[in-house]
Amino acid sequence: MKERLAALADRALAAIAGASDAEALDEVEKTVLGRKGELLSLMRGIGELPAAERSAAGQAVNAVRERLDAALAARRAAFQDRHLAAELADTRFDPGEPPPPRARGHLHPLTRVRREVEDIFLGLGFDVVDGPEVETEAFNFDRLNIPAHHPARDTQDTFWLENGQVLRTHTSPVQLRAMLRAGGQPPVRVIAPGRVFRNEQPDATHEHTFHQVEGLMVDEGISLADMKGVLALMLERLLGQSVEVRLRPHYFPFVEPGVELDLRPAGSDGRWLEMLGCGMVHPSVLREGGFDPGRVSGFAFGLGLDRVALARYGIDDLRWMMSGDPRFLQQF
Ligand code: PHE
Repeated sequence: MKERLAALADRALAAIAGASDAEALDEVEKTVLGRKGELLSLMRGIGELPAAERSAAGQAVNAVRERLDAALAARRAAFQDRHLAAELADTRFDPGEPPPPRARGHLHPLTRVRREVEDIFLGLGFDVVDGPEVETEAFNFDRLNIPAHHPARDTQDTFWLENGQVLRTHTSPVQLRAMLRAGGQPPVRVIAPGRVFRNEQPDATHEHTFHQVEGLMVDEGISLADMKGVLALMLERLLGQSVEVRLRPHYFPFVEPGVELDLRPAGSDGRWLEMLGCGMVHPSVLREGGFDPGRVSGFAFGLGLDRVALARYGIDDLRWMMSGDPRFLQQF
């Protein structure tokens, strides 16, 4: 009996140690400790022993049972730990992991260019002014010397609203409003950045919605030379290099004379790049703004911001600007 018990205990402990998973442990438990298990059949033999040996034999069997129970429990706990460790290693959610860095926003290329232009003019003593995007016909056209049926209206394909107002085709009306606010008292030094709208078929170089910075300076004795100086300075700062500028006559109804300003890098004899429209404010526009053209004069200009941003960042299609497409925006 003693030998059989010892042999059973050795075999069972070896089986427990060698079990590869929890099911193998269940199997060992069943065959050794179960109701039809080997330990119970050994116990049944106790009754056949001499009475003096029975109690010792019973205690020996119980001692083996306890050892085996403990060995099983320990092995099960080990399997459970291993399982948990594997699960933790595999899991996608680690509560201890720091969160991913939050994506930082950044400025749209147009906003950057606009702010640069604003900074330059603020440094020159200009104010930055704003105005409505829905304008009256009077402010967008008539009072800027573009009467109805004037062919100049055709050059600014216009979105007309049902109530007879327009989506402003330029920010010039904002400058007229600034003149009126000055109440006939010079100087007026303002720039008007903003969205403008034209009924254009969009393509790589045209959009129905684009951006301008227009500017105006009115004071006594303002000349074309002042205009050329201010604009050359602005462009040099904006482009970060010295430039040569050239004025080329061009018709704009609200200025006289009107010119286009071209530029190229200083000292180069390369191609002239058309940059902006400008000129001396037309006397009738000065009068509309509440000024006496006999006493003051002024210059005005209009710069397309989109074009500057396209050139600055090497963008090949104007339509990207207003697309809101993250594939485009994330590059800046
Ligand atoms: N308002 C003109 C435009 O949008 C630009 C401009 C402004 C031209 C001032 C000359 C002088 O086309």
